[in-house]
Amino acid sequence: VPESLKDYDLDSQIQGGGLRSGLTSYGDTHFSLFLRKVFIKAAGYGEDALSRPIVGIINSGSGFNPCHANVPQLIEAVKRGIQLNGGLAIDFPTISLHESFASPTSMFLRNLMSMDTEEMIKAQPLDACVMIGGCDKTIPAQLMGSIFANKPVISLATGPMMPGSFKGQRLGACTDCRNNWAAYRAGELDMEDIAGINDELAPTVGTCGVMGTASTMACVTAGLGLMPFNGASAPAVSSARLRVAEQTGAIAVSVIAKLDERRPQKLLSKESFLNAITVLQAIGGSTNAVVHLMAIINRHPAVADSLTLSTFDEVGRKTPLLVDLKPSGDNYMNDFHNAGGMTALLHTLRPLLHLDALTITGKTLGEMLDATPFKPFPYSTQLIRPLSNPLYPNSALVVLQGNLAPNGAILKASASKDRSLLEYEGKAVVFENTADLAQRIDSEDLAVTKDSVLVLKGIGLIGNPGMPEAGVIPIPRKLKGVKDMLRLSDGRMSGTAGGTIILHISPESAIVDSPFGVLRDGDVIRCSLKRRVLEVDLSEEEISRRIEARKAALQEKGQPLQGNRIAARKRGYRGLYESSVNQAEEGGDFDFLTAKYERS
Ligand code: FES
Ligand code: MG
Repeated sequence: VPESLKDYDLDSQIQGGGLRSGLTSYGDTHFSLFLRKVFIKAAGYGEDALSRPIVGIINSGSGFNPCHANVPQLIEAVKRGIQLNGGLAIDFPTISLHESFASPTSMFLRNLMSMDTEEMIKAQPLDACVMIGGCDKTIPAQLMGSIFANKPVISLATGPMMPGSFKGQRLGACTDCRNNWAAYRAGELDMEDIAGINDELAPTVGTCGVMGTASTMACVTAGLGLMPFNGASAPAVSSARLRVAEQTGAIAVSVIAKLDERRPQKLLSKESFLNAITVLQAIGGSTNAVVHLMAIINRHPAVADSLTLSTFDEVGRKTPLLVDLKPSGDNYMNDFHNAGGMTALLHTLRPLLHLDALTITGKTLGEMLDATPFKPFPYSTQLIRPLSNPLYPNSALVVLQGNLAPNGAILKASASKDRSLLEYEGKAVVFENTADLAQRIDSEDLAVTKDSVLVLKGIGLIGNPGMPEAGVIPIPRKLKGVKDMLRLSDGRMSGTAGGTIILHISPESAIVDSPFGVLRDGDVIRCSLKRRVLEVDLSEEEISRRIEARKAALQEKGQPLQGNRIAARKRGYRGLYESSVNQAEEGGDFDFLTAKYERS
C-alpha cells in the first residue's frame, strides 16, 4: 500500500500522534479516522499539514477580558513558532475569566475553567499544548487542568500592562486603584482627580502591572519550569512579548519528540514545586498563589502527599524577599522586566533552588540558567536585591495555626503596615458576613477602638462561594487616622492589597464545627508571628460547647447537614460548587478533581 493511502488500508493498525491520536468513538476506528480527515479538510488543511504533529493553542481571549486583549497577536506569533519548526498549530477556545467582569468572583469559576481546560486538552487530537492565560485565575486553572490531561503543556502569559501616569505620578492597577480610592473616600482627592486617575490606572491591555496574583502566577510558573524565564515579565504590548510567544511555539514542537518525559505528571516533581514556592516567597507574591499552588499540587498524584500548607512556611523561613515591587515595595512589572526579570531573580536565588528540577525544554533549571547568563548592574540589584541585602529578611508569607485556625491561616507579613500587630492581643469585633459588615462598619455606634481586632466571617469557599477578596476589612470611619489594624477572615485578599491581614482561616465559618464560626464579640484573640500562632483565649470545652449549641440551633431550624456542612440543595454549577469544594489549605478545588479521589 502506498504511504499516502495507508490510512485507508483496513488491514493496517492506525498509529501515530497528531490527527491519528485519540480517535472519536464510532465503533470502527478506520471510519473514525476517515471522518476526521473529511472534516479537517473542510477547514482547508492539506495532506502535508495533516501528517505533522499537532500543537494546540488555548485561546482564552474574550471581549470581556482586557487582560487578554492581545491574545490574537500572541496566537499568530505562537503559530509562527510552531510552523517554522515543523508542527501544525491549531487554536481552540476555552472559558475566559477576568477579575472585574466575573460575578460573584472569578475564583468561583476557576475550577470550571480548569475542567474545561482538562477535558478539551484530553478530547482533541493534539500532541502538546500552549496555554495562553494571564488574568489572575486563568494560569492557575490551566495548570490545574493540565495535570490530569497529562499531555505536555507550556504556559504563555499575556504579560503585564504598562504603568500609567497622572499629574507626574506613575500609576498601576491595582495597588494604586485601592490607594487612590481610599484617598478619595477620605476626602484627600476631588472628583476630577479621581476621574483622571481612573483614565490612567490601566493604560494598556495586559495583566495588572504590579506583583498581584497574575504576575505572581506568571513568575511562579517560570519557577516551575513551564515558561521561558522572560515570559513572566515582558510587557503585554512589547515586541519582546511576541518573541516570547514565537519561542513558546518552538519549544512546544520540540517536546513532542520526547512526549512521555514531558508530560506534567512526569516532569513536575516535588522539587519543581519547592522552586515555585521559593519564587513566591522571594517576590513577596500574592496570598492567592498559596491557594492556587495547593490546588495544583493536590491534583498531582506523585506530589500531593509530600507538600502541604506548612511547606510554604518552611520554605519561607529560608527565603528572603528580594523583589522591590508594589504592593510590598515601590515599582512596577515593566521595571522588573528591565531589571532582568526572572532570569535575574533565579540567578540570585540559585543557592536556594533545586537546580536539578526539569523544565519543559528537557534541560534542568540549572542547565537553563547556565545557558542564560546574567550579570547584575546597579539598577537590577536595586529592584532585585542580592541575598545579602534583602527587602525583608525572610517569611514574606507565613502560615499560622492554633485553636482558631486548626487547619491553618495565611498572613502576608511583608505587607503589614504596623508591625506591632504581628505580636498582638486584642478583643474581637465580629461581623457575621459582608452584609453585616456593610451595615455596621461605618456606624458611630460600633463598639470598636484602635486596639480591637476586626473579624469578618462568612467569606470562605462555601460561605460566600468563590471566597471573595473581601479580607481587607476597611478601618471603621470613626477611627479616622488609624492606618492598620489586625484583621481576620476566612476569605482572600487581592494580591495588590496590604495591611496586617490574616486570611484563609480554616475550617471556614460556614463549616458547622469551625472554631472561627463560633467566635464572638469580645473574645480575646492572640496573633504571634514569632510562634506562628493564631489563638482565641477560650478553653477547648467552651469552643465545643458553642459548636454543639450551633448544631442544635441549625437542627431546630430544620437545616439539613451533609457531614459538617450545611447541605447544598441548589441546582447547577452553584450546587456542584457548594457540595464539592474543599477548604483553602487544600486549594479550594472540587474534591472529585483531586488526585486523592482518583486513587480512592
Ligand atoms: Fe486581570 Fe488584574 S484584572 S490581572
Ligand atoms: Mg487580583
